[in-house]
Amino acid sequence: MLKLENIEAGYSKQTQVLRGVSLEVPTGKIVTLLGANGAGKSTTLKTIMGLIDDEPRKGSVRFLEQNLTHKDTEAIARSGIALVPEGRGMFKDLTVLENLMLGAYHQTSTVQNTLQEVFTRFPRLEERKKQHAGTLSGGEQQMVAIGRALMSRPKLILLDEPSLGLAPKFVQEVFSAIQNINSAGVSVLLIEQNAKKALEVADYAYVLEHGRVVLEGTGAELRENENVKELYLGMTHEPETGVGRFRRKRRWN
Ligand SMILES: Nc1ncnc2c1ncn2[C@@H]1O[C@H](COP(=O)(O)OP(=O)(O)OP(=O)(O)O)[C@@H](O)[C@H]1O
Ligand SMILES: [Mg+2]
Repeated sequence: MLKLENIEAGYSKQTQVLRGVSLEVPTGKIVTLLGANGAGKSTTLKTIMGLIDDEPRKGSVRFLEQNLTHKDTEAIARSGIALVPEGRGMFKDLTVLENLMLGAYHQTSTVQNTLQEVFTRFPRLEERKKQHAGTLSGGEQQMVAIGRALMSRPKLILLDEPSLGLAPKFVQEVFSAIQNINSAGVSVLLIEQNAKKALEVADYAYVLEHGRVVLEGTGAELRENENVKELYLGMTHEPETGVGRFRRKRRWN
């Protein structure tokens, strides 16, 4: 469905972040992208969405037989891809409803139906639709961010660390929501610091290191991989400083 081939991208001529990334998201699947801080995970999603000017400098992004390389972000969104950005991208002074409607910018006649679907999926958002998004809890804001992405009726959703900073109860809710959305037919590319949970829900996974894919396999295969266990699942007898040149974020839940 989505196919990245040998993507090279960065933020200026001097800074290359992605150094030949190839990955695929098959239709109907959940694929996860793991990697240490700064490995290039968010850059990969931004490149897919056409959010970095003139990038990728090499390689191609194909989606449903279309070549999306160097298309503008709106065209990419129209083709059926939605991004839930790192940090949620919430407009805190707008209401929940206004935030959701921002995601619906390129569909018209079916907007009310889609909104109702989002409210059915996240009933709490309907209860709070007139509340300013900035006054919601972190978990509720994440639901708004996911709901806003769903308003465009995407075929593929890109999620950038949706569980970051959330209490365990909300982490579980976010993962359940991702699985439900996937069961409803939406393919998923998921970036997560919570590698344990990500590998549980993922059909397939890639590990990114310094802008390169260094490991890939099914979720089950990666859970059994010794390096993954040590570096991403925290299964090590070494103290925190014993993770070599990798630095992990604190939130492992
Ligand atoms: N707007 C930007 N301008 C310049 N450099 C950037 C920009 N955004 C990211 N970078 C750099 O690109 C590299 C990869 O960043 P990226 O955000 O893709 O990492 P990541 O894997 O998502 O990390 P994290 O787990 O911390 O979110 C980093 O070295 C970062 O400093
Ligand atoms: Mg990131």
